[in-house]
Amino acid sequence: MGTAIPLRIDTAPLLDRRRRALTDLRISVIDRCNFRCPYCMPEDSYPRDHRFLSKAQRLRFEEIERLARLFAGLGVRKLRLTGGEPLLRRELPELVRQLAAIEGVDDIAMTTNGSLLPNSAQALRDAGLRRITLSIDTLDAIAYRRLSGDRGEVGEVFAAIDAATRAGFSSLKLNSVIMRGVNDAHVLDMVDHFRGSGHVLRFIEYMDVGTCNEWRQDLVVTSAELRERIAARWPLRALPANYGGEVAQRWAFADDGGEIGFISSVSEPFCGDCSRARLSADGRLYTCLFSNDGHDLLGPLRAGASDAELSALIAAVWSSRDDRYSEIRGSTDTSQRRHVEMYEIGG
Ligand code: GTP
Ligand code: 5AD
Ligand code: SF4
Ligand code: SF4
Repeated sequence: MGTAIPLRIDTAPLLDRRRRALTDLRISVIDRCNFRCPYCMPEDSYPRDHRFLSKAQRLRFEEIERLARLFAGLGVRKLRLTGGEPLLRRELPELVRQLAAIEGVDDIAMTTNGSLLPNSAQALRDAGLRRITLSIDTLDAIAYRRLSGDRGEVGEVFAAIDAATRAGFSSLKLNSVIMRGVNDAHVLDMVDHFRGSGHVLRFIEYMDVGTCNEWRQDLVVTSAELRERIAARWPLRALPANYGGEVAQRWAFADDGGEIGFISSVSEPFCGDCSRARLSADGRLYTCLFSNDGHDLLGPLRAGASDAELSALIAAVWSSRDDRYSEIRGSTDTSQRRHVEMYEIGG
């Protein structure tokens, strides 16, 4: 399989043009999803003729493992599996097992809508998955159904939470995308429900990702506004980040009811220390969630490139990276830009 790549443990980190190190890799294992959330893949406006990737176009597990190992050699310590919906990819625990064996990787997480989790939570845990993030945008049964594009039931999220907890995932992160007039009135109920549960509810500002969600600024509820509404009922105090470049701002309930988070990509961009690369299911490397396009790794890989050649290619892409979309969103005309779809790179 070519020359072994030394791990960058004692060597200088690989930096981009803004001196940001490459430490995280988000791996989309499939571009399909069994939901049609309006902020991501709205049923009525995502391209009808959209052709999802065929099996042959998708990276095979050994290809994902090989690339992840090369990324680890360049400094990546954290992997996150995403989709579309990652649990639609068959035998996912087998991939986790392979990734968990990579030297240098010390965290493997997954972001999922949870609907398929009960069948695989234990196998994923046994294979080495350390953390799970579940999406839950409302507790209201009718609103949940609508927000899943008529595909999911809120009860399935509770079944997923139970299954994950039983499998040993002790503290889950629960992601909630908030849209004004859609589910912002449901926030206090959610906080009330999950306070003290040991799980960390995180409110995400609705983002202008992809091309089909018809994003509008007035649909964004800023974290500051939400935090004010929540703190009026349950006083909050700020917590320090768990690690440099953490996406969510952490807040604790003053009465020891645990913690909540806010992800404020629109009102308080966090590009300054963004350490995340994204690998799509078809083997393209994206250096930003809002990239127009990715850099093809699958082509060279299948054409027989050595580990050293692939590693040099990845390093060259990262070194020339200058992305900071969320910081420039307001200041330049970004409206005409083509964006990769959220379901192609998993958020
Ligand atoms: P941990 O901190 O490891 O738990 O992971 P995370 O919070 O980065 O993962 P998750 O997949 O739960 O991401 C939460 C939300 O933040 C998702 O909606 C992502 O799309 C969004 N997000 C994650 N990374 C970025 C980023 O680099 N830029 C922007 N704009 N949004 C991001
Ligand atoms: N804005 C904010 N978050 C989004 N997600 C998907 N689309 C959007 C959007 N337009 C979130 C999902 C999930 C994560 C992968 O990305 O809710 O938590
Ligand atoms: Fe919803 Fe996630 Fe599926 Fe997008 S990928 S439609 S956010 S469940
Ligand atoms: Fe990173 Fe791009 Fe998100 Fe900024 S907008 S934090 S550069 S992924």
